[in-house]
Formats: sequence, C-alpha cells, structure tokens
Amino acid sequence: MGVILEAQGLHYAYPGGGEALAGLDLTVRRGRRLAILGANGAGKTTLLLHLNGTLAPARGHVLLDGAAAGYGRAGRAAWRRRVGLVLQAPDDQLFAASVAEDVSFGPLNLGLSEAEVRRRVGEALAALDIADLAERPPHMLSFGQKKRVAIAGAVAMRPDILLLDEPSAGLDPQGTAHLLAALDHLRGDGATLAFTTHDVDLAWTWADDVALFTAGRVVRQGDAETVLADRDALTATRLRPPFLLELGQKARSCGLLRADEPLPRRSADGLALLDRAENRNHSQI
Ligand SMILES: Nc1ncnc2c1ncn2[C@@H]1O[C@H](COP(=O)(O)OP(=O)(O)O)[C@@H](O)[C@H]1O
Ligand SMILES: [Mg+2]
Repeated sequence: MGVILEAQGLHYAYPGGGEALAGLDLTVRRGRRLAILGANGAGKTTLLLHLNGTLAPARGHVLLDGAAAGYGRAGRAAWRRRVGLVLQAPDDQLFAASVAEDVSFGPLNLGLSEAEVRRRVGEALAALDIADLAERPPHMLSFGQKKRVAIAGAVAMRPDILLLDEPSAGLDPQGTAHLLAALDHLRGDGATLAFTTHDVDLAWTWADDVALFTAGRVVRQGDAETVLADRDALTATRLRPPFLLELGQKARSCGLLRADEPLPRRSADGLALLDRAENRNHSQI
C-alpha cells in the first residue's frame, strides 16, 4: 500500500509555548481512512497544520509522494491544492455571502473556467447533501450544516488528501452519521482521508488505520484492529478500548464469534451478536 504523505521527526514549539510536536513520525497510506487519536492538547491540530504546509517545523520533514514538500510561495500553494484541510470550527473557514459563493472561492482561485467551477461546486454540494442550501448565507446555518459547507469547500478543490480536524466535534449522533455517510461517498471516489478525534468508538467504526498520539508524538500506528487492541498503548495515550472491539473480543472468547469472523465495527453488528447469544440459549433449552 503506497504512502502518499509522511511526516518525519517533526519538532515544533509555539512562540512562548512548550514543544507541541516532539519528534513526530506519521505515514498516511493512499486511499485509506486514518484516525489520528489523542487527548486534548496532544498536538493533533498542530500536526494537521504541518501536513498541509501552513506551519513549518523547526526540525523534520513532510514528504508528499516521497519528495520533501517546499515552503516557498509556489510550493505551499501546490501543496495545499493536493492536501485539503477542514478546520475544527467552521466559522474560521466560512466568509462569503452565500454557500455557493463560499464553495466556489477555492476553485475560482485555481483559475478554472466558470463552467468548471460551477460543475465542481455542484458536485461538492451534492456530495455533502447540501445542494438545497446553495443560496443561503453561511452564518444563518446550523453548526452541522456549516461543517458540511466547510468540507464542501475543501472537496471542490479535489484534493488528493483531505484532512479533517475533529469532524464530529459538536455534532449530534445523527449529524455525525450524516457527515460520515458523506465522507464515505468521497472515499468511494478514491480520496485519502485523515481525521483527528479523541473518540475511540468513532475511530473503530470508521477508520482503516489509527495513529495514537500523545505529547506531540505518535506512540503507535497501524491498522485499526492491531492498534486499538493494544491496551498498553491506549493507556499511555489516556484512552480506553472501543466498546464494540471489547464486545467482539468477549464474543470470541465465549465462542459466539469465530476467530476468522470480523469483530463488530458498527452497533448493528454488535446487536447481531446478542441475537446469536439469544438463539444459542434457545437451542440449548
Ligand atoms: N496558537 C497557539 N499558541 C501557543 N500554544 C498553542 C497554540 N495552539 C496550541 N498550542 C499548544 O500546543 C499544544 C498542542 O495543541 P493542539 O495542537 O491544539 O492539540 P490538540 O489539537 O491535540 O488538542 C498544546 O499544549 C497547546 O496549548
Ligand atoms: Mg485540536
């Protein structure tokens, strides 16, 4: 599996602050969904700002397709075209008078034709299921709607990699499900996604790969099942194992789930295990 984006030995300190990144290594694999998991203050947002070239590390490198990314004006512009970043607070990203105008801003800046911009905006709004909001002023929308507008703005740039900072923060369960469905749609189109969260259950349900992050370093990275079953690494990161992973392990140990069957990733899969338990009890009577 090819590595599309890589951070090597990043160090960074904010002016007057402590070290926010302290020798950070991370790989993002092409076409995968990566969850960057860590407690508040671990340095996740700082990392994303390095992965799209907004911040330059004091030491270390960011590689795009194996080549060191450049920090000159042109290099950074090209970098940001390939690596889109959606900030945690949509109000930091939205500014135009209408949703359609906001989403067209990036593509217009790329110098695309008006017809191409219109096409991309239409596609991005459809992908995020907000076509009906096109003419609305962003500041009159709900928080969840604003989040989707901010993501549509990034999607309209057709980045190879989309970085999302805490995409589910502030959303209710339905809003989160809605957003994840939209992101699944993007993934179907071949996009590589990386998102930060402190929600282990979200990471388990949705990510292919997981990086555990604490105090400015990645302490463990790999496929979601390997990393999220590593209790010591989770404890070191001040996190607990995902509920459905624990349920699945328990189901295996009591013979409800065969070793070659996948662990439950969605709540429906967990409930199906309870149905099995019920059927087994009936057949034993
Ligand atoms: N603009 C800033 N100025 C100074 N310190 C900052 C700034 N932003 C973040 N920090 C500090 O850097 C560390 C990492 O923060 P951040 O990347 O926001 O973590 P996370 O996103 O995981 O919550 C924290 O100690 C935080 O206080
Ligand atoms: Mg953050």
